[in-house]
Amino acid sequence: MPEESLRAWAELIAACSPVLTPDVLDVGAGTGMFAVALARWAEARIVIAIDASPAMLAHADRHENVRYLTADAAALPLAGARIDLALLSRVVHHLPDRRRAGAELKRVLRPGGVAVVRTTVRERLDSIVYEYWPELRRLDAGRFPSESEIITDFSAAGLRVAGVLSFGQPVQPGLRAWRDAVQRRPQSKFGQLTGEQFRSGMERLDKAIAAAASWRPDMIAAMRPPGPPDAAALARILAAIDPALRLVSSRPLAGGVSAQVTMLEASLPDGAAQRLVVRQYGPANLRSDPHSATHEHRLLTVLRAAGLPVPHPRWSDESVRSCRSRTWSRSSSPARSAPSPVS
Ligand SMILES: C[S@@+](CC[C@H](N)C(=O)[O-])C[C@H]1O[C@@H](n2cnc3c(N)ncnc32)[C@H](O)[C@@H]1O
Repeated sequence: MPEESLRAWAELIAACSPVLTPDVLDVGAGTGMFAVALARWAEARIVIAIDASPAMLAHADRHENVRYLTADAAALPLAGARIDLALLSRVVHHLPDRRRAGAELKRVLRPGGVAVVRTTVRERLDSIVYEYWPELRRLDAGRFPSESEIITDFSAAGLRVAGVLSFGQPVQPGLRAWRDAVQRRPQSKFGQLTGEQFRSGMERLDKAIAAAASWRPDMIAAMRPPGPPDAAALARILAAIDPALRLVSSRPLAGGVSAQVTMLEASLPDGAAQRLVVRQYGPANLRSDPHSATHEHRLLTVLRAAGLPVPHPRWSDESVRSCRSRTWSRSSSPARSAPSPVS
């Protein structure tokens, strides 16, 4: 994951913490990518990173504030712990007994402590991976729990839902880098495919990379909530550019690669086609520049006026700034909701 994406995630998760320098528990930490990110960017006092697999921990990234322990989520070796912030990233679908894991979280969280579950849910399988390996959608639908199943199990364990947010960040800088990563070290999900299915998907991806290299779209610099905009939002954007434009199709160019870029095909009454890209800025951009959309729009206008071959900025909007993510807090805490990660 690019450092910028990891940092944006760490800052979002840190924004859910009830205290500024939290004691953090990372459950199913794997090789410690998030444990170290939280130590670096969430100002964690300590991160206890546990994983059931000693092999994963043997390759874990090191940091002076991160302690690794081999343990199961259903039996946390933390007597008397008072954890402020717990993270379960890409792990709930591995847990055979989510209620037991939830009960363990409740036991080790201090009153007011927050657990953040970062996961794909069955009803929102929108990763770009399914465009190239459509067979994975059905397989993932069988692997990932639904949002309501997670909420039911964690609530039964005595945790209270503080919020459900959705948030996307690029996991690779582009399609080609993603292709190379899939080729080099395929995620475990690809192990469910036959060799033929894997090769066919690679061929589809190679064709998309070749096609992407041969066109440059017009660009709409936009700022709206993360996640693909719905048809009504897209129609509003087109109407703002040219009321005669009609939406023909849209698709995320992103998903796992960059969840905040959407390609639009639109047509004019004379049949002329237009291709446009909607860019949606994430919290990291907005924190460094709340007016990212306006500034990028201006910059592209100036560069185009100077004759440089940059995308044509058509419209920008910075009226909506929000994002959603998934958090739980202990039911015994005073009534409060997790802080909104982005104002
Ligand atoms: C997909 S990896 C996620 C790693 C890391 N959290 C991340 O987001 O990059 C899932 C991890 O969960 C661990 N895991 C699976 N079942 C577990 C359990 N019952 N208790 C603790 N860890 C578990 C696996 O060993 C693996 O390292």
